[in-house]
Amino acid sequence: MYKKLALAAVGARESAYAPYSSFKVGAALLTENGKIFTGCNIENAAFSPTVCAERVALFKAVSEGERRFSAIAIAGGGDSVVATAPCGVCRQALTEFCAPSLKVLLVSDRTGAYKETSLGELLPSAFNETDLRG
Ligand code: THU
Repeated sequence: MYKKLALAAVGARESAYAPYSSFKVGAALLTENGKIFTGCNIENAAFSPTVCAERVALFKAVSEGERRFSAIAIAGGGDSVVATAPCGVCRQALTEFCAPSLKVLLVSDRTGAYKETSLGELLPSAFNETDLRG
């Protein structure tokens, strides 16, 4: 399943709209019940409306009623064997819906090979709804 998820992220990268950075990213998010939601980065001439591939995948899934996830694969950006790690904003966005145990696959878009890490490793001591309760 993880190989399929990694390849889905590589495929999603094809749709990236990145005319300003040329840094194309694809993401594929796996629900606990086995569905895959993909996303790509979508840039904007005003820069700040740009959204990352990971958040596009997450928001597509959440907007379709999904709330429970087991893994996300990320492929990008510069046709490189070095996999892209999710940015801090995406780590925080994922924290809203995903446990620290969420598997994060950092995929080489050139080879499809991936490194495995977790959301908890990437964002230790995350801020979440329990902090709001004081
Ligand atoms: N980008 C992502 O899509 N995901 C990340 O985790 C890092 C950055 C995108 C945003 C922007 O379109 C481009 O990569 C360069 O930052």
